[in-house]
Amino acid sequence: MRRPLVAGNWKLNGSRSANQTLMQALVGPVSGLGKVDVAVCPPFVYLEQVAGLCRDGGIALGAQDVSDQDNGAFTGEVSGDMLREMGCTCVIVGHSERRTLYGEDDAFTARKFAAARRHGLTPILCVGELLEEREAGVTESVVARQLDAVLAVEGIEALSDAVIAYEPVWAIGTGRTATPEQAQAVHAFIRARLADRDPDVARKVRILYGGSVKADNAAELFAQPDIDGGLIGGASLKASDFLAICKAAE
Ligand code: G3P
Repeated sequence: MRRPLVAGNWKLNGSRSANQTLMQALVGPVSGLGKVDVAVCPPFVYLEQVAGLCRDGGIALGAQDVSDQDNGAFTGEVSGDMLREMGCTCVIVGHSERRTLYGEDDAFTARKFAAARRHGLTPILCVGELLEEREAGVTESVVARQLDAVLAVEGIEALSDAVIAYEPVWAIGTGRTATPEQAQAVHAFIRARLADRDPDVARKVRILYGGSVKADNAAELFAQPDIDGGLIGGASLKASDFLAICKAAE
């Protein structure tokens, strides 16, 4: 009932030539996939180039962040309108690297979520706990706090056209993937929490898993009932790996 989504978060990687090589290797095979939505999220400066390479190839364009502001004296920011103009249809908000490295708190993430929706972009809202939070047994309260910050601003209805990505911080870039059972448990918690407010929204919202998803572990993760695809970092930079993950989500 939920169409799977696999989104590649390129992070601070790429070059015009590398982007060209990667996208040329992706577009044909992805257009042959029937039952999965695929998106790539390059750095801002490559959005226009990659938009041109995505065209007609069945790959959606996303951004890795968005300003909470619409326009004006906000040096260095990129607005939702600008992302739309570049051809973006979705945008990652609240990635753990924005939260831990750049001081983005729950309220800031909620404002960015609102800005994305204001400009017609599908927000991919990232939530997830630190290793010490998991070890302390507070994973669910951390994820609940991150979700509630957005729900307080936008309400449960806003999630009906959004995507959630559960990314345990301790699994990001570490090769230490959450087990399918660990991931499923948090995905089920997220869905149940949303269902308490609106069962229809909870049923519809896609919840992706992110954190060391690879070609050899994607299928068992995506086989879980509440995992609707993946938000892929490192493995999105190699066409063969990213395609294998997309196929595993079909
Ligand atoms: O946003 C996805 C990213 O955080 C996961 O990174 O390299 O563990 O797949 P990676």
